[in-house]
Parts: sequence; C-alpha cells; structure tokens
Amino acid sequence: MIEVKGVSHDMRGQAILRDVSLSLPRGGVTALIGPNGAGKSTLLSLIARLQRLQRGRITVDDLTVGACADRDLARLLAIMPQSSAISARLRVGELVGMGRYPWHGGRPGAADHAAVEAALAQFDLTGLRHRFLDEISGGQRQRALVAMACAQGTDYLLLDEPLNNLDIAASRQLMALLRHMARDQGKSIVIVLHDINYAAGFADRVIALAGGRIVADGPPAEVITPGLLRGVFDTDARISVIDGRPVVVV
Ligand SMILES: Nc1ncnc2c1ncn2[C@@H]1O[C@H](COP(=O)(O)OP(=O)(O)OP(=O)(O)O)[C@@H](O)[C@H]1O
Ligand SMILES: [Mg+2]
Repeated sequence: MIEVKGVSHDMRGQAILRDVSLSLPRGGVTALIGPNGAGKSTLLSLIARLQRLQRGRITVDDLTVGACADRDLARLLAIMPQSSAISARLRVGELVGMGRYPWHGGRPGAADHAAVEAALAQFDLTGLRHRFLDEISGGQRQRALVAMACAQGTDYLLLDEPLNNLDIAASRQLMALLRHMARDQGKSIVIVLHDINYAAGFADRVIALAGGRIVADGPPAEVITPGLLRGVFDTDARISVIDGRPVVVV
C-alpha cells in the first residue's frame, strides 16, 4: 500500500502540492489525470524520492520514504519519469539492464539476465537490443524506458506519461499489458495519462489533480464526467457512454 499523508510542496515560493492525502492499496491500475502543471509529476517524484519531501509523510508498505535506504525502496518501487536525461550512446539492452541495478549493484547474475530478456521480449525490443538510443524511433525509445522500469521487477510501478510517442496499437498493447500485470501478478501501477479515454478504458481507479489538490477520486465512470471536463480541464468536450464506459468525444 502506498500512503500519502498531508503532503504539501513548494517551489520558488509557489505551492505546487497542497495537503495531498491518498492511499493506494496493493494491486490495480490507477490513472492520475489533470491539466498541465497540476502537480502530477511532482507527486510521483516525491513518492519515488526523486525530490525531497518537504511536508507530510509517504510510506510504501513498511518503508517510510526519505527514512528508508534508497536501495530498499528501489526494490519495491520503480518509476519512469516524464523526462530523463539518458545517454544516447547507450544500447537498448544496456538501458533495460540498468533497471536491475538495485538487485545486483553492478554484478548481474542469471536472474538479472532473465529479467532483462523477459522485458525485452515483452516490449518487442529483442531485435533492437544492440541499437543505440539515438538510432531508434521516439516510440521505440519510450517502450525501452517502460521496459527498464518493468525489468526492475518491483511490486509498485509509477509511470509518468508512458504513452508519449506511442501509436494507437502500441498504446493499447501497453495498457493491456499493465492491466494484466496488475490483475494477474498483483502489481500496483500508477500511470499519468493525458488521454482520458485510456484512463476510462484501462484504469480501475482515476484520480484527478488540479492546482496541486486532489479534486476527484474513484472509478472511471464516477470521475470522468462533463463536470470534471468543464471544471478541471476547462473544456466542453462531450462524453458518450460506450459499453458502460465514458468516452470523451473530442
Ligand atoms: N523545478 C521546478 N522549479 C519551479 N517550479 C517547478 C519546477 N518543476 C515544476 N514546477 C512547477 O510545478 C507545477 C507542477 O509541475 P508538474 O510537473 O508536477 O505538473 P504536471 O501535472 O506533471 O504537468 P504536465 O501535465 O505538464 O506534465 C507547475 O506549475 C510547474 O511549473
Ligand atoms: Mg508531468
């Protein structure tokens, strides 16, 4: 379970997160939605300790973020940040292999190699493993970054806009894979999405963030409403219901 209690965060004198509390029990796909600048990436980076917590408390199972060893947290929780500065002179296979570092500390063993092979196969990257990152397409690079986070083999996975650059087939495939990992392997997955239809179609729970506050939290059909689109996203896009799921008509 991830528990966020009373987390507030300021940057340059501006409130970025304001008294955010939420609990995410184990298992399931949670979509985090909200307008640009709402604080979604900041919240994920605090949970994963990419930024230092200023106020409040975050725990992941029995680990207190900020007080536990980084390595212990990295064995329990992986994050794919929205943007990461990664050397272009790294090969796809090496990048995915970096996900195993918290387990072997520099000396990969058989289990690490197996996890990398599995992630490369799962994300259709086996044929690209020897290519440098600047020799593949944007979507392929995105898949490699998600594969690296998955190869880390953690129970909790935080993915910040993993559908960036992915075509419709790759997006649906990735979302279906994440749902499978949540349902059949008990993984807890939090994913930042801008396309609300993917949140409606694949998430068990949707949390909407606006102005650094949680403004809605619940099953997709309860959260994704014309009121949310108007009040939070300032748009009058229509919503249809297809197969019991809300679908935003753009
Ligand atoms: N390093 C920084 N210094 C100052 N302000 C920052 C910094 N990083 C982010 N912010 C501000 O914090 C707010 C929240 O940013 P954050 O990246 O968490 O939003 P987001 O919801 O992920 O947005 P997006 O959908 O555009 O990725 C924004 O107003 C942003 O300008
Ligand atoms: Mg962001």
